[in-house]
Amino acid sequence: MKAHLIRQKFSTFFIKHDHKKISSSPLIPQNDPTLLFANAGMNQFKDYFTGMALAKNKRAVTIQKCVRAGGKHNDLENVGFTARHHTFFEMLGNFSFGDYFKKEAIHMAWEFLTKELAIDKNKLLITVHESDDEARDIWHNQEGVPLNRIFKMGDKDNFWEMGEFGPCGPCTEIFYDHGEKYSDGNYDPNFPLKDEGRFVEIWNLVFMQFEKTSEGIKKLPKPSVDTGAGLERLTAAMQGVYWNYDTDLFQGIIKEIEKISQKSYGDKK
Ligand code: SER
Repeated sequence: MKAHLIRQKFSTFFIKHDHKKISSSPLIPQNDPTLLFANAGMNQFKDYFTGMALAKNKRAVTIQKCVRAGGKHNDLENVGFTARHHTFFEMLGNFSFGDYFKKEAIHMAWEFLTKELAIDKNKLLITVHESDDEARDIWHNQEGVPLNRIFKMGDKDNFWEMGEFGPCGPCTEIFYDHGEKYSDGNYDPNFPLKDEGRFVEIWNLVFMQFEKTSEGIKKLPKPSVDTGAGLERLTAAMQGVYWNYDTDLFQGIIKEIEKISQKSYGDKK
């Protein structure tokens, strides 16, 4: 499936579920001195989460241009070393501003991946925040994910914060299994995700409930949802390739560079 079709399917699916399609904000955030570049789809909606502004539509869907090259979410050190990190990337996201919460967010994400994109459920693993039995139960009881495919993780992995300050909350992540042949040798049957070669995070669902300010942490006026799925990673999974650079998002430009430079893309490993 071509990347442009994944973008289209994502927007159409969430529009069908009453989300308003909003354009990506510019890469340079407007009126936000806490960020150099947009690092997530939720940036432009920060004031809706905190209650500083009222959203006309309580549900939104976006495809956000992002750069993670500094600050709290800095991928720069990984670029060029892994198959899945970039300077620039696109994040598919659906948002609830005080409207739906965990049950609906989990249900829609699972439907989109396993029905719309028809990804094999056996290739997906889930993490939840260690305190979030509710999310674990929803995955298990509502969506039928076996408990041995759901893993509890701490704040480092499953508590999402935009930056030093801003809206934040526990999250649940969906990982894609690229298969044994990509193992980095750390596979552990009790905790497969230790194998970061084989398993790749493709979607993060954040249950926004708090705001960090210089005075500490406070509860948001209403629990909300912020999700983000990396388009390039999802496309790699859908196109059966391991390297994001081998997807149609990059191959066109790479072929052109090969022609101009007279050099071949070659073996990346
Ligand atoms: N804000 C979360 C992230 O960037 C989910 O969109 O991972």
